[in-house]
Formats: sequence, structure tokens, C-alpha cells
Amino acid sequence: MPQVHWIMSNGDRVSDDVNDGTNLMDAAQMNGIPGVAGECGGCLSCATCHVYVDEAWLAACPPMDEVENAMLDIVIAPRQSGSRLSCQLVASAALDGIVLHVPD
Ligand code: FES
Repeated sequence: MPQVHWIMSNGDRVSDDVNDGTNLMDAAQMNGIPGVAGECGGCLSCATCHVYVDEAWLAACPPMDEVENAMLDIVIAPRQSGSRLSCQLVASAALDGIVLHVPD
């Protein structure tokens, strides 16, 4: 199972093995990650699952589509180069070890 690491803004860290095919918003919910609300349940209409993908993992992530790109313009925390909506990232071998920084 791919491992996912979340790093909170206060430096707290949570790591978990996530089933292949699970989106990383659902994985965050299962791990009680604060700040990843996922209010729309992953249908790409709320942007409350915003995370910052660690720079070292950006190239491994699939490209974002136009809708995700537009939604990232309305996130509460500042958009940065690593900004992604975690409901659009899916656990896979390619993302094994991914590091996600959770906005404050
Ligand atoms: S959970 Fe709503 S956009 Fe990701």
C-alpha cells in the first residue's frame, strides 16, 4: 500500500498506508487530518481539500485539469506552486511516500 505523509503547519506529522485507488482527501478524512474538510465529498466543487504537495513530489502527480485549476483560485489559504486539491490525487505506487503539507 502506498504511504502518505501529512505535515501540519505546526510541524505535526501523520503517516499512513493508504489503499490503492483511494483519493487523498478521503485518506486525510480517515486519518483525522485537520484542515482537509472535503465538504463536497470529492466532486470538485468546494476546494476545502486544498493541500500543498511537497516540491519533491510535484512531478509524480498527474497534471491538474481546468476545473481543479480554476477551483484553486478560490482556496482560502494562499495558492502556491504545490497547491492541489487532494480529492484529485489518488493513492498509487507512483505516489508511494508522497508528502502533503496541510495549509494552516
Ligand atoms: S473535496 Fe471538494 S473539491 Fe476536493
